[in-house]
Amino acid sequence: MKKIVIISILLFSSYGALSAESAPCGDYGECEKFSPQLENLESLQLGAVTFLNNCYGCHSLQYSRWNRVAKDLEIPEEIFSSNLVYGQTVKLGNRMTGSMDKATAESWFGIAPPDLTLVTRLHGSDWVYTYLKTFYEDASKPYGVNNMVYPGAAMPNVLAFMQGQQILSCKDIPLLASNGGVKRDELGNDLTEEKCGYLKTISGSGSLTESEFDEVIYNLVNFMTYVGEPSRADRERIGWYVILFFIIFTSFSYLLFREYQKDYH
Ligand code: HEC
Repeated sequence: MKKIVIISILLFSSYGALSAESAPCGDYGECEKFSPQLENLESLQLGAVTFLNNCYGCHSLQYSRWNRVAKDLEIPEEIFSSNLVYGQTVKLGNRMTGSMDKATAESWFGIAPPDLTLVTRLHGSDWVYTYLKTFYEDASKPYGVNNMVYPGAAMPNVLAFMQGQQILSCKDIPLLASNGGVKRDELGNDLTEEKCGYLKTISGSGSLTESEFDEVIYNLVNFMTYVGEPSRADRERIGWYVILFFIIFTSFSYLLFREYQKDYH
């Protein structure tokens, strides 16, 4: 009995640790769901381009190497080094240590931009995906922007030129009665109340439409998920072979078992 209690406590506590992993998205509430496609090379390549052009100036990926990324993403090394590698002295075998000096960065932003190699594993890809989509204009902040997932973040909204102006707006929400239905007045009109804190993009103010921007962020976070665990795609593929092997092996052992059984009877 005691053992069962201990085992169930262990099971439940590990379950708790698993569910705590997906950090809720601050003022945004639940994070948007992100499911990576690590076999989708086109998406990973586009994500790498977005990262190197817009993020690498501030954030390093110091636990990965240039040539590993080129190889995994199947980008020929000459194309990769002439178009995407930053820094004249960089060798393809080097780690992607970023181009910004830590002390300078700290004096600019108040905090040095963190290394992002493992950020999708630290916060979860859902968190990073939602974070990158929820910057909004806030005149009280030094860069004129704030973030719903990470309020007060010291990062400028570097992709605003694509997304356009995003602001917080209000909208009328139907009032719900205690039975779950919508409240109405005597004339039968729905009662509403004004609630604020919804994100709204001013259409036409950015270079991309909303769905194009979502796709750019999808590819970017897909790439960042890959960087956090470069061998995950292999691991998942090999896992299927292992399971297949077990199924085949089990069926052979069962046949053998039946042969042996014959001798007993
Ligand atoms: C101008 C410099 C700059 C650029 C460019 C920049 N960032 Fe940041 N970023 C920062 C700073 C500074 C922080 C730290 C914010 C804080 O902790 O308040 C940060 C924080 C973050 C975080 C949160 C990390 C954590 O663990 O809390 C993520 C994720 C992130 N950046 C992603 C990106 C991505 C993706 C891009 C490219 C689209 C990008 N950043 C471009 C400066 C920058």
